[in-house]
Amino acid sequence: MNFEGRDILTTENLSKNDILEIMKVTEKMEDVFKKEHFSTLLSDKMVAVVFLEPSTRTRLSFETAVQRLGAKTITIADPKSSSTQKGESLADTAKTIEGYVDCIVIRQPLKGGAKIVADAVDIPVINGGDGAGQHPTQALLDLYTIKKEKGKLDNLKVAMVGDLKFGRTVHSLSYALAPFNPEYIYCAPDQLQIPHNIIDDIKKLSIPYSKTSDINDALKADILYMTRIQKERFEDPTEYEKLKGSFILTRELVKKGKEGIAIMHPLPRVNEIAVEVDDLPNAAYFRQAHNGVYLRMALLAMVMGRA
Ligand code: CP
Repeated sequence: MNFEGRDILTTENLSKNDILEIMKVTEKMEDVFKKEHFSTLLSDKMVAVVFLEPSTRTRLSFETAVQRLGAKTITIADPKSSSTQKGESLADTAKTIEGYVDCIVIRQPLKGGAKIVADAVDIPVINGGDGAGQHPTQALLDLYTIKKEKGKLDNLKVAMVGDLKFGRTVHSLSYALAPFNPEYIYCAPDQLQIPHNIIDDIKKLSIPYSKTSDINDALKADILYMTRIQKERFEDPTEYEKLKGSFILTRELVKKGKEGIAIMHPLPRVNEIAVEVDDLPNAAYFRQAHNGVYLRMALLAMVMGRA
């Protein structure tokens, strides 16, 4: 499977073999990170990390990944400091940056915006989150985390809880796990349920799923994937105020859950997982965030033809 020159914009077009290959390279990158600390694999490469929306994990783990592989990075961390503020289009921004680097990582608020960037340039583009669309590198690091936490990817019951409408991570995860015979429990208030187009695709793939607004149903899963209610995506702030505390996972609730249930969250959290849960051995969300570096090292090496 050759990833050289490929864009990573969505998880919909990744095959099972693609994903298994990415998992294999990610394992190697974890070894590089832990044993060698730095590598010269990409020492002749430069990567633009362009973030036109806030981020802690995705931007910093990409920058860490770039530097651990010996490449250099240029970055936009604050949209106010880029010429998009003067009205420059995404395509023009991308064509300009193409002349400076070998790969672009882009986060921006428009669903489908990463594709606009990819269509404008000939170098690989990695989507670091496009509005309420997709977040493919998050889903891939989620799979890597699931594999480490549960020892497998196949035949797992996965509950996704919270804001499934605007939460791009659960959109990407629904597609990324699809080749591994999963069962999905979508747990959300009615207003924030998983979009119909994703349900249509899940049905076409014959993946069993259920919808609920009761977190007790979600506790029956092997993986409990909590998400934040995405305040920044609401047009009406009063609607957010009504929904913001919909689900709060406590130790008491975890005790009622399936034995060994792995608790995941793409982070940042607001209040949907009580801090008292953090000490539980099955609270995997900070390990999940750390896995992001290895996964992003793998993707960078793969799309630049060095894996
Ligand atoms: N999970 C995630 O995308 O986190 P950031 O918004 O901090 O990058």
